[in-house]
Amino acid sequence: MDQSMDMVRVKDSDCEKIERIGRDILDSCEFRRIIGQRHHIFSTVGYHSVHVAFMMLFFARIFRLSEIDAVRGSLWHDVGIYDRDSFSGSRDTAHSHPIRSLESAEKSGTINRIQADMIANHMWPVTRKRPGTREGFMITIADKCCAVTEFLRLHNDRVERVLKDIADEVD
Ligand SMILES: [Fe+2]
Ligand SMILES: [Fe+2]
Repeated sequence: MDQSMDMVRVKDSDCEKIERIGRDILDSCEFRRIIGQRHHIFSTVGYHSVHVAFMMLFFARIFRLSEIDAVRGSLWHDVGIYDRDSFSGSRDTAHSHPIRSLESAEKSGTINRIQADMIANHMWPVTRKRPGTREGFMITIADKCCAVTEFLRLHNDRVERVLKDIADEVD
């Protein structure tokens, strides 16, 4: 098997991992209500959340982090952006949505200390509190890298594939 085929397999398995590890989150009403919310001008919160999950899986392989925390923390991290009109400006959005995301995630009764740190502190250094875990620190980087590539409209087919699978289930 040549190396390029191995890379294709790793990439395909990341789609499968996100759908399997994040199944209940992807199916939740909290996630469904943010899928189409506009984000980073040219993207949506749903696209961005899955995009961050892919990048966190990549970091998980490099830094030997838990893939479960990588995917689940990523899928939860922006579910608090469900009603943009309820925020009073960009500063309020930046500070309030991680709190809302954490509330939604905690209601699910499934998150652990690491995922809570990823969700609550992913906006650092815009928000004051530093992440207290490696995963929490890595998502601050993944979040910003994904936001920049989304703003530049660098399209990721694998993200679309996961979103299409979600949409197909609803139909
Ligand atoms: Fe965020
Ligand atoms: Fe984000």
